[in-house]
Amino acid sequence: MLTINEHHLKLQASYLFSDIAKRVAAFQVEHPEREVIKLGIGDVTRALPQACVDAFHKAVDEMADDATFRGYGPEQGYEFLREAIAVNDFQARGAHISSDEIFVSDGAKCDTGNIQELFSTDIKVAIPDPVYPVYLDTNVMAGRTGVFADGRYQGVVYLDCTRANHFVPALPAEAVDLIYLCFPNNPTGSTITKEELKTWVDYARENQALILFDAAYEAFIRDESLPRSIYEIEGAKEVAIEFRSFSKNAGFTGTRCAYTIVPKECVAYDSRGSKQAIHPLWNRRHCTKFNGVSYPVQRAAEAVYSDEGKREVKELTDYYMRNADLVRREIGALGYDSVGGENSPYIWIDGGRKSWEFFDLLLDRSGVVCTPGAGFGKCGEGYIRISAFNSYENVERAMQRIQEALASQ
Ligand code: MLT
Repeated sequence: MLTINEHHLKLQASYLFSDIAKRVAAFQVEHPEREVIKLGIGDVTRALPQACVDAFHKAVDEMADDATFRGYGPEQGYEFLREAIAVNDFQARGAHISSDEIFVSDGAKCDTGNIQELFSTDIKVAIPDPVYPVYLDTNVMAGRTGVFADGRYQGVVYLDCTRANHFVPALPAEAVDLIYLCFPNNPTGSTITKEELKTWVDYARENQALILFDAAYEAFIRDESLPRSIYEIEGAKEVAIEFRSFSKNAGFTGTRCAYTIVPKECVAYDSRGSKQAIHPLWNRRHCTKFNGVSYPVQRAAEAVYSDEGKREVKELTDYYMRNADLVRREIGALGYDSVGGENSPYIWIDGGRKSWEFFDLLLDRSGVVCTPGAGFGKCGEGYIRISAFNSYENVERAMQRIQEALASQ
């Protein structure tokens, strides 16, 4: 008899964004005449930078000629891309990351979900609340939690992110082994200072713990004093793995390219308490389960680091940040408290009522899709998230409609 991994049965009904998509689809069937504006899932809407498109085309042409065709590439990514990443994203900011510490992949979602496979199932995991659901769900699937009761999985150390702590969690009261952090944060849009991040690095060093740092939104940082990488903090290379993505900065959500940094100094421990480097473990896992990102996509990603690419990426992120600024101002003018939107494309709004109730109200009355904060965790209840990824015109219209909807209540 074939039995299943019963930990999967502990998961909540469906993945948050699939749930929202279903509700929106049902709304559209019921109201075919209504135009819906989507400010829910953080999916980009603008075309790829021209520098990336040109490099993409050129690489496709290479694939069309026997003389320049390429088959399997290195699983870890081509050296041209890994070197460009190391130089531009890290060494230029004083972080000593070398190209062989970079693993190119098809998404930060997959990497943040897969990395936990390297660690034993009896470790203590600390996860922020609210949180990007992938970190939690993949630990549930792996059997690192108990059942879901009263809005939380047993056995997880939740790091509450609330207005009181400016949505930056405090260090856990009990010892933990694996810590997930994401800054600029999804979903709250909050940021962390270098001093605050240093307390986490120091904690990890003192407690033989590891930080999984998701920096997928670093390109939206406008305050130059904020860290873009955890490796800007001294000592982080021994205790942190960082995840990055081309999805949000260069619009690769449909093109798929990301990367993970596993420094050679980074260690975990075996059952005898001996240090084990994580780099060879991740390399082995990556080579066994992954065959690399396609050559044209890696060439397109490399173009992000050309002069033209850098200028275009800045223009793209500036465009979305103008949307974020508009949402922030309009929502404030309506009397709602919010965070985010200054160094991040997400605005986290205190709706003053249940999250799903506010979601339904905005959808029904204004045809605007947001993300209910409760879908990101218990501490998200009462909040909604608005994403700045859409055209400026659509964001303007959405805010106008929200204003009318809320005024007419
Ligand atoms: C989000 O809306 O939170 C993100 O788009 C999800 C993702 O990047 O997978």
